[in-house]
Amino acid sequence: MENKILDAKNSFENELKKIDNLSKLEELRIKYLSRKGTLNQLFDEFKNLPSAEKQKYGKSLNELKNFFQENYEKLKANLEQTETKVEDFIDWSLPGRKRNLGSKHILIQTLDEIKSVFKSIGFSVYEGPELESDYNNFEALNFPSDHPARDMQDTFFINNSFLLRTHTSPVQIRVMQQLKPPIRVIVPGKVYRNEAISAKSYCLFHQVEGLYVDTDVTFSELKGTLVSFAKQLFGDNLKYRFRASFFPFTEPSAEMDIWWQPTGKEGRWLEILGCGMVDPNVLTNVGIDPEHYTGYAFGMGVERMTLLKYGIDDIRIFFDNDKRFLIQF
Ligand code: DAH
Repeated sequence: MENKILDAKNSFENELKKIDNLSKLEELRIKYLSRKGTLNQLFDEFKNLPSAEKQKYGKSLNELKNFFQENYEKLKANLEQTETKVEDFIDWSLPGRKRNLGSKHILIQTLDEIKSVFKSIGFSVYEGPELESDYNNFEALNFPSDHPARDMQDTFFINNSFLLRTHTSPVQIRVMQQLKPPIRVIVPGKVYRNEAISAKSYCLFHQVEGLYVDTDVTFSELKGTLVSFAKQLFGDNLKYRFRASFFPFTEPSAEMDIWWQPTGKEGRWLEILGCGMVDPNVLTNVGIDPEHYTGYAFGMGVERMTLLKYGIDDIRIFFDNDKRFLIQF
């Protein structure tokens, strides 16, 4: 017993010397002073000793207890004074740091709106490649190789047979080759044109193509769909008109204009899309019988719609990536 008391005292002293913070001190307290700690273990042993021995060790055991406790309390008081708490470094009155959240580009927001209008009336969304064959981009859409209509769209050619698509219309061909009527799809995507860059035109822009093929599809359905679409995007008071036009892949063809009235300036008509009834030649090219099926198609410019919707006057700003512009939306 005597040795045990001595050992406990020595090891307590040794460990105490190494302690430099409150959490280590707490570990020491648990080891020596808690209910199952060294001191209590010794007292338990003490209880079972014959009474002669009890007299012998009672005093030293009590001294050990006081030694433990005094040293523990002393160090604890010391450490509490010197240990500065983390909270003391924090100034809770400082204003918080603001995190800037990213947001969808305004063109993508317009695209999402267009998609959701057409999805709600039963159109599904398809996509096609930006690198396209001359056949899909022109030939199958009824632009013969020497047709002057090809000049309507200045093309970035890759080689004789491939190009960057100049419109989303070639995806009409891909869709009709894959699906059987009834077909009701829209096709959003990027298109490319080798044009001089200006406030009005850029070498890259976005279109949404629409295609509906079934038995007995009519031009008035096409008009009805487009008018209701435009009203959802621009509001019920929208002023619009359809003008006869020409596209090789539709007959008859039309363009839809909407009235644009910037505040304080003169208003004018602006074209937002081309449309028409799918030309029978195009249906024949994809193996759909034009005697049995008819269809309508349309193609709209996403930049154009966004310019109109938000009163922006320069298309190049969409591609500048200027944060001062982007954060406004
Ligand atoms: N692809 C035409 C263009 O980029 C737009 C267009 C016109 C698409 C009439 C159509 C359509 O589907 O029917 O100028």
